[in-house]
Amino acid sequence: MPDSVQKVMPGSSDAARHRRDPVLVVDNLVVEHRNRTTGEVFRAVDRVSLRIDAGESVAVVGESGSGKTTLAMAATGLGTRGEGDIRLLGHSLATVSRRDLRRLRPEAQVVFQDPHGSLDPRQSVRSGFAELRGLQRERTSWITDAELLARVRLAPELLDRFPHQLSGGQAQRVCIARALLMRPRLIVADEPTSGLDVSVQADVLNLLREIRATTGAALLMISHDLAVVRSVCDSVHVMFRGRVVESGPCEKVFADPQDDYTRELLAAMPGARWRARR
Ligand SMILES: Nc1ncnc2c1ncn2[C@@H]1O[C@H](COP(=O)(O)OP(=O)(O)OP(=O)(O)O)[C@@H](O)[C@H]1O
Ligand SMILES: [Mg+2]
Repeated sequence: MPDSVQKVMPGSSDAARHRRDPVLVVDNLVVEHRNRTTGEVFRAVDRVSLRIDAGESVAVVGESGSGKTTLAMAATGLGTRGEGDIRLLGHSLATVSRRDLRRLRPEAQVVFQDPHGSLDPRQSVRSGFAELRGLQRERTSWITDAELLARVRLAPELLDRFPHQLSGGQAQRVCIARALLMRPRLIVADEPTSGLDVSVQADVLNLLREIRATTGAALLMISHDLAVVRSVCDSVHVMFRGRVVESGPCEKVFADPQDDYTRELLAAMPGARWRARR
């Protein structure tokens, strides 16, 4: 295994030492989907570049169908890979060996919109954790199941529950705990609160914020909710029809958007407090 991979393995690295290293670099990514019936090709991600440094919190916003999930899945090596370079912890996903890819994969964990859809209905919380532990013994030995639940503010009694016995908020916390168990360097949260009751959305966002602060993991937050993005993220990329039309620190983009589409998004915010300046 190359030294650079070894350095990022749990137990062998000091998070602070890597603080300014890029966790994820996406360079000129193009991802196309082919319609199986018509054979038509649709470009869902069109020449997108972005970089996330250790500990950083970056948002991708845009309307439904703008390519956010396609981008997130390709960037973490889970979806259609597409063209262009994707470097996770310095390793190009196009050229990394299978062995190193197996070691790199747990470094990027995804939390999806629908927590119940992400959990196996036949598995209790405990057996779900056990399955993950079986796949990555060394990486997951740092914390007990009860401690892990405490980290996501869930009572230990929930360990023996099945997904249908959990509320949406509890199920999403279990999903976050499963991600946390792997000690990832990057957490991708794809609309993590939009499937939840409004009353628990803030709690889940606070939890993500706290995890980022305490673990030093970088966060890639996919959202169409600009208020969420503003409260959690340092910088934002605005996507429109597969392309990034504007990028920058949240404060700057929200206060002084340069692109017409960003202005529209801001203006469409319910009770928008950040009216676009022209
Ligand atoms: N597997 C697929 N096959 C064909 N087309 C797809 C596939 N996945 C996504 N698409 C299309 O690619 C485009 C981008 O989809 P994507 O899911 O990335 O959008 P999104 O920004 O995440 O939207 P949303 O906010 O609704 O989640 C859409 O037009 C979608 O219909
Ligand atoms: Mg999506």
